[in-house]
Amino acid sequence: MESTLWWQRGTIYQIYPRSFLDSNGDGIGDLEGIRQRLGHLVALGVDAAWISPFFPSPMADFGYDVADYCGVDPIFGTLEDFDRLIAEAHRLGLRIILDFVPNHTSDQHPWFVESRQGRDSAKRDWYIWRDPAPGGGPPNNWVSNFGGSAWQFDPASGQYYYHAFLKEQPDLNWRNPAVVDAMMAALRFWLERGVDGFRVDVIWHLIKDGAFRDNPPNPGFSHGQPDINRFLQIHSTDQPEIFRIITRMRETLAAYGGDRVLIGEIYLPVERLVAYYGERLAGVHLPFNFQLILASWNARGIARLIDDYEQALPEGGWPNWVLGNHDQRRVAGRIGSAQARVAAMLLLTLRGTPTIYYGDELGMPDVPVPPALAQDPWERNEPGLGVGRDPERTPMRWDASPKAGFTTGEPWLPIGPEREINVADETADPRSMFSLHRRLLGLRRAHEALSLGQFELIPTTGDLIAYRRRQEKGEGGTEEVLTVVLNLGSRDAELDLGQGALGHGALGHGAVGHSTGAGWRCLVSTHLDREGAEPAGPIRLRPDEGLVLAEG
Ligand code: NOJ
Repeated sequence: MESTLWWQRGTIYQIYPRSFLDSNGDGIGDLEGIRQRLGHLVALGVDAAWISPFFPSPMADFGYDVADYCGVDPIFGTLEDFDRLIAEAHRLGLRIILDFVPNHTSDQHPWFVESRQGRDSAKRDWYIWRDPAPGGGPPNNWVSNFGGSAWQFDPASGQYYYHAFLKEQPDLNWRNPAVVDAMMAALRFWLERGVDGFRVDVIWHLIKDGAFRDNPPNPGFSHGQPDINRFLQIHSTDQPEIFRIITRMRETLAAYGGDRVLIGEIYLPVERLVAYYGERLAGVHLPFNFQLILASWNARGIARLIDDYEQALPEGGWPNWVLGNHDQRRVAGRIGSAQARVAAMLLLTLRGTPTIYYGDELGMPDVPVPPALAQDPWERNEPGLGVGRDPERTPMRWDASPKAGFTTGEPWLPIGPEREINVADETADPRSMFSLHRRLLGLRRAHEALSLGQFELIPTTGDLIAYRRRQEKGEGGTEEVLTVVLNLGSRDAELDLGQGALGHGALGHGAVGHSTGAGWRCLVSTHLDREGAEPAGPIRLRPDEGLVLAEG
């Protein structure tokens, strides 16, 4: 096996800092709160924390509107807090990944303040300014991701500026080399402070069509969908020149050693997604793969998408899987708490780097937020369509107390009624969702077959998904093979692996070869009540059950 990097072996845990732990009683989480709870990440068994933005920001989009790339917003603490946090993380063997938001700044960023001063401003071309269309009105039909035209008129200069998100988030002009240089300097600022990598926000948005052509209508659009779905974003995103920018980012990271990771946030169909590995793998290390979030939860569809993804990967491209994030319904809300356990087993036994969203390791549900308390600007812009992202951003639950141990003040979002879903109680409960995550992460650490091994789907029907992970072990030429069987249905199911597995040529040697007739050993069930030898014959799964099996 070639040498592997930490981000290939490891598991990433996303922290939304507003909601992790509030150390100063203002109802909003902060960096010191994260530092105090790094032990939770260690106990869970993850390897890296990706922290959503904590930079100075007016918070129009809760930190995704950056007013200074090289600082810490006072809500979250100070640069010294950050230095303490990263030092402590490294002491504990954890890596820190920051959120880099290069597509747009805040409209309060000094660069934009200067840019909007007039057509002659030295920073005019740092953003995307265009004259009105010939007959008046916005330069083209591009729509903001948060609804309405993506062009904002500036009466003083008579021009429009482009914003793919809020009007408070003007897009930078990445065709301007001065912008590229300034943003590389921002990366270096954090690399100097020891960060281990970046998750790059909406990386496929950075370069837009040079001619600003209209986007074509989306034939699949129907009433009730968000505005952004009206057009296919073929000219406003995913342009070939993006790869030159990504190369610059990679070079900037590489100057700090070979193991800093570059992750791209990309929502594109799989064949375009994998293009972001770049030619000769010079693109991002990990184009975030959100398919498990977006797909409907049925065994046939999930098995197919796993297979298609594996087939689509370029040679040497390292896979990754994401089950939740701060922009999407929580997994327990999407598929229910029983299937969320099956999904956790899937996430942590597939080939590729897993990303866990904070709270999903507890089975936290989406917390309904009444319209009057809505915080998310997208929900406020397009109310009633179900686009709001507050429900998945609610405070982490540390204990069963009314404020969940998150704050002594008033939490910025409601905590929700399910008191039993919390770190303290779930740590004490050997069958909890938290215990399941610990067990699976422990298994992943202990068995290279799971973290690094090859992947092979086993044909199944109905509600079942099954696959093998295999890895050569040391000198002796033996091979470790683990088999995963998942029941995505709510009925008992059965899979005759005996013939299938042992009759399979590649399995007929090494450790497996000796196990003929020796049956199966269950390493872990999602129900956490079944370990050890299995009765001879087909494997039986209970409703909503997943198993990791070894032979013999
Ligand atoms: C993607 C982020 O994940 C999302 O939360 C944010 O609103 C947009 N980018 C704009 O930065």
